[in-house]
Amino acid sequence: MSLRHFLTLSDLTKQELENLIKRGSVLRKMQHAGEIYQPFVGRTLGMIFEKSSTRTRISFETGMGQFGGSAIFLSPNDTQLGRGEPLEDSARVISSMVDIIMIRTFGHEKVETFAEYSSVPIINALTDEFHPCQLLADMQTYYEHHGSIENKIVTWVGDGNNMCASYMQAANQFGFELRVAAPYGFEPDPKLMERFSHCVSLVPNVQDAAKDSNLIVTDVWASMGQESEQSTRARRFAPYQVTPSLLDKADPDVVFMHCLPAHRGEEISHDMLDDPRSVVWDEAENRLHAQKALMEFLLKDKIKLSH
Ligand code: CP
Ligand code: NVA
Repeated sequence: MSLRHFLTLSDLTKQELENLIKRGSVLRKMQHAGEIYQPFVGRTLGMIFEKSSTRTRISFETGMGQFGGSAIFLSPNDTQLGRGEPLEDSARVISSMVDIIMIRTFGHEKVETFAEYSSVPIINALTDEFHPCQLLADMQTYYEHHGSIENKIVTWVGDGNNMCASYMQAANQFGFELRVAAPYGFEPDPKLMERFSHCVSLVPNVQDAAKDSNLIVTDVWASMGQESEQSTRARRFAPYQVTPSLLDKADPDVVFMHCLPAHRGEEISHDMLDDPRSVVWDEAENRLHAQKALMEFLLKDKIKLSH
């Protein structure tokens, strides 16, 4: 039995990712049909949150419940993690009791350390550097609306942040062209730009970047932990607001995504989420189905044992 983690999209092969997206879509249909499927009876998910969350917490906790298992919400305020118990020790102890663990934290090295000392799969549920679970939902949503994203044009508008970095990895794994329209000084990590130069380019003019795009995506201007930069960022990012008229420059079949939470009047105009090209509610719901597919994949050996 091989231990697999999901810290970034690069932890899975292109084929595994594609299978996961399709499986997420099947699980969505099963859920909508009211089908009961409980491969995880008696299994437990540990959920470590060092940052706030609505979608991630609800989707993981509900997904585990629908699969017949249970989930434990672990906040640093209520565990010894918040009182300085080393990550290495916490990883050993928590993983000796639960079957799978998801972590939302600050530095990416924290999930790497946790994974190194864990005896069960670790899922990155957002770090300052990456948000791979969101990409599973986004890729599933594109697939459900328009089929394969291979060879399509995706435009990322705004901060070259954790979401953007995961989009860069997705461009490589799913085979699309990614244009990044970020203000000067807020571009993605140059090391990532170099690594993915075959599929990612900087197009600072947002109108040019949007042209012929099949998917336009944006995110908040100030991520969790950057609250003190809110007003500076608001000035710098103002020309990068995504609006229905920006989408008019894109391919006629373009869709709009945003991982949410969204700030109307900042990164999106007040009418953007109500535009028929916005698929954000499907995207949010697909966090549930995509992560169920992910947990099923990471625990497939245990599922075999229980059947
Ligand atoms: N998109 C996302 O991760 O949302 P939450 O912060 O609500 O979990
Ligand atoms: N970039 C955002 C994503 C929130 C889901 C953040 O890190 O706060």
